[in-house]
Order: sequence, then C-alpha cells, then structure tokens
Amino acid sequence: MERIVSLAKRRGFVYPGSEIYGGLAGTWDYGPLGVALKNNLKDLWWKMFVTDREDMYGVDAAILMNSKVWEASGHTQTFTDPLVECEKCKRRFRADHVDGTACPECKGTLGEARQFNMMFKTHVGATEDESSVSYLRPETAGGIFVNFKNVVDSFHPKLPFGIAQIGKAFRNEISPRDFVFRSREFEQMEIEYFVRPEAWEEHFTAWHRLMKEWIEAIGLPEGSVHELEVADGDRAHYSKRTIDFEFDFPFGRKELYGLAYRTDFDLKSHTEGSSVELSYFDEETKERLTPHVIEPSFGVERTMLAVLASAYAEDELGGEKRVFLRFKPRIAPVTAAVFPLLKNKPELVAKARSVYADLKEILPSVVFDDNGNIGKRYRRQDEIGTPFCITIDFDTLGEGGEDKKDTVTVRHRDSGEQERVALAELPSYLKSRVL
Ligand code: GAP
Repeated sequence: MERIVSLAKRRGFVYPGSEIYGGLAGTWDYGPLGVALKNNLKDLWWKMFVTDREDMYGVDAAILMNSKVWEASGHTQTFTDPLVECEKCKRRFRADHVDGTACPECKGTLGEARQFNMMFKTHVGATEDESSVSYLRPETAGGIFVNFKNVVDSFHPKLPFGIAQIGKAFRNEISPRDFVFRSREFEQMEIEYFVRPEAWEEHFTAWHRLMKEWIEAIGLPEGSVHELEVADGDRAHYSKRTIDFEFDFPFGRKELYGLAYRTDFDLKSHTEGSSVELSYFDEETKERLTPHVIEPSFGVERTMLAVLASAYAEDELGGEKRVFLRFKPRIAPVTAAVFPLLKNKPELVAKARSVYADLKEILPSVVFDDNGNIGKRYRRQDEIGTPFCITIDFDTLGEGGEDKKDTVTVRHRDSGEQERVALAELPSYLKSRVL
C-alpha cells in the first residue's frame, strides 16, 4: 500500500488535500494522471451503462438539496455511525473500528457509544438558522429520485428504465482511512433502475451480472472480488436485499460496490414528503403503480484504488528492477507515448512530432517525450502504465533501407517486447488494441 501511495503522489495521480496547509483529513486532490484515470473510468461506465443502452437516462443534479429530501429519505434520522469518545484524550473513534473499551491512542477508557450523523450540514443564503439548513448530499441517489417525475414527464420511458448519475457525495466519516478508500468527499456512479414490483428479482439478477461484466472490463483479476449477501439488520434502512462486492485491497477485504433492492421505499417516501405523486402510469396495462428500484452503486475512488492495486507490478527487465502498472489500455491515463530516438536530430523530431499529432486525433491520450535516453523514457511510461511506446528512429526515415522506411518500433509495456509496425497501419493497430 505504501508503494502505491508513494507512486500515486510522485507521479501525479493523487495528492493529499490542502497539503501545503498540513492537509485536511479525508480529502484528496487528483493530479493530471489521477484525473485522466478517473475520467477514463467514468467515461467507460457512462458508455457501458448509459449511452450504449436504450433504457437509461442521465442526470446531473445539484449537490446542495432541500433538507426535506433527506428527512423523507430517512438520512436525517438514520444515516449515522456509532461514535465513541475517549474520556482521557477526548479523541473520537467509530465504535465498530475499535476492539474493547480501551482508547487505541492513549489506552484511556472509551465512553458509551452514541449515534453520529454523517451528513455535512451547511446553511444556504444569508440567514443561519434552522430554516436555511441544507446538506451536501451523502449519496447521489437522492438527486435521481427527486428527478424521477421530471424524466418521466420529459421522456415517457417504458418500464423498466433507469436513471444514472455520476457525481460527488460527502460523508463526515468519523475515521477516514486507507488512502482514498474512506474519504469525506468522493464520487459515486449510481443507477436507480425502475421496474415492475413483481419483476424485481429478475432485474436484480441482471444487474448482478452486469456489475460482474464491469469488474471484468476494468481489469480486476478474477478471484480478487468477492460477494457478500448482506444480512438482515446490517443492510441500509431502505434495502430489502443487498449484495456487497468486496475487493481484496492491500489493507484487507473491503466493500467496493453495492447492489441493493430499494423496493418502492424512496418513491413512496418522497411522495409523502413532497406531496408530489411519484408514481407511474403504465400505458400498456392502463395501471398506475409505484415502481420498485434496483440500485447498482459504484464508488469512483474505490474503483481507482482497486485498479491501481491490481495493476501495480514489479519485475526485472534487462537486468534492472522496474515498477509498472498493468492497466487495461482502455483506462490507462496515457495510451501511447511517442519518442524521437534522439532529441538533437531535427529530422527525427519532426517525424516524431508528425506521428504524435496524427495519433492525438484518434487516441484518448498521447504524450510526446524526448527527455533522456530511451531506456529511461520506457521506465517512466511503465511506471504510469502507458501500454504502448512508439519510437521514431533512423529506419523510419529510410536510412536502414527501403523495407524499413516509414515503420516505427512499438514497445509493449508488460513484456517489454518490441515490434516493427508500418506507419500506415499504426492507427488501426493501436485502435484495435485500445478502444
Ligand atoms: N446509494 C447507495 C449508497 O450510497 P453505499 O454503500 O453507502 O450505498 C455506495 O455507497 C458506494 O460508494 C460504496 O460501495 C463505495 O464504493 C462508495 N463509498 C461509500 N462511502 C465512501 C467513502 N467514505 N469514501 C469513498 N467511497 C465511498
């Protein structure tokens, strides 16, 4: 874990939040490669679950919501974690994260557990009283449910259909820990899939399969993800069935994603809370009903961390130890790096610049690098998980004979193997391996 955290910082994936002021616990800033990796994951998710389907509708709701949303959803009353305080040093811990009654820091006595609400409270407008209270949303789901009627009225979707959202969520975690795993500000990718009540099991099974397909698409190794049927009493207040997908993180097996059957809890609660009818009229059966909901929920940071942990590898190549990230090409922050063999030969640089410009048109992210010797450039790209390095050399210019003219060296990250590819074929060669 330490190696991953240090690589993430050094190479510009993840920095501690507000670092120059000593940080702010539970917050993280994403550097250029972290943003690229997260964007690739979010784009792939959106493509797979929204744009590639005919039954999905995207929304981007406000983070600040009317506090009545969270009263109706039950979060004001029940979105709590048990908190204990040390009577001696006054430090606070999540009760289920400590063993026994002794303070993990000073061995003082821990007091009685009490419930601590994890929503971040703020005030909207210039008056700071109870009437202006608002919360930063603790889950993106809330923004989906309050837009159920809007989407139905604008698009008249047929059941079953889903509304998807990617966005920030905030939880005042008692003890943020394990790098980005438990943050106070994070992103979720969520779907509320509305179904006829009698069909919930069939759709639960279908989403279970789709979540597994996603896990495969991002390259988490088989055997590293486990399923946990969450027991009665351990589930969130809105759920009648939940499967947690757990991942073998370096710090232990922990929740990666959740799949929940939220019944008609939310649509009914918001109907009651808002006095706006959130039901659905089925044109085919001429029946009015409250759909039930299947909710696949994915955390962006946990996805990124699972992907980083699975991709991290060390080996020996050419007699030297190296660190590399085995990202699937589709999600790698840099897809290809283009190098002129030598920096001080204008013909090589010009040709490499032209290859770079052409590839930039067709691949998600291409970089140009002429700094240091080729071996060092390979190592730098390996360390950030770039799957392909393309070198323009004297053979490319035709100096090694006509047969090698306009060919380049493509070097593969995991094996270190190199092959000669004709420039004319390079775009399709790379596209077929990346997209
Ligand atoms: N709408 C359902 C919901 O929010 P959840 O299990 O509380 O369910 C869903 O959260 C996902 O959000 C988790 O599986 C995890 O991936 C992510 N997540 C939750 N809390 C998080 C935190 N403090 N830091 C990072 N990710 C978190």
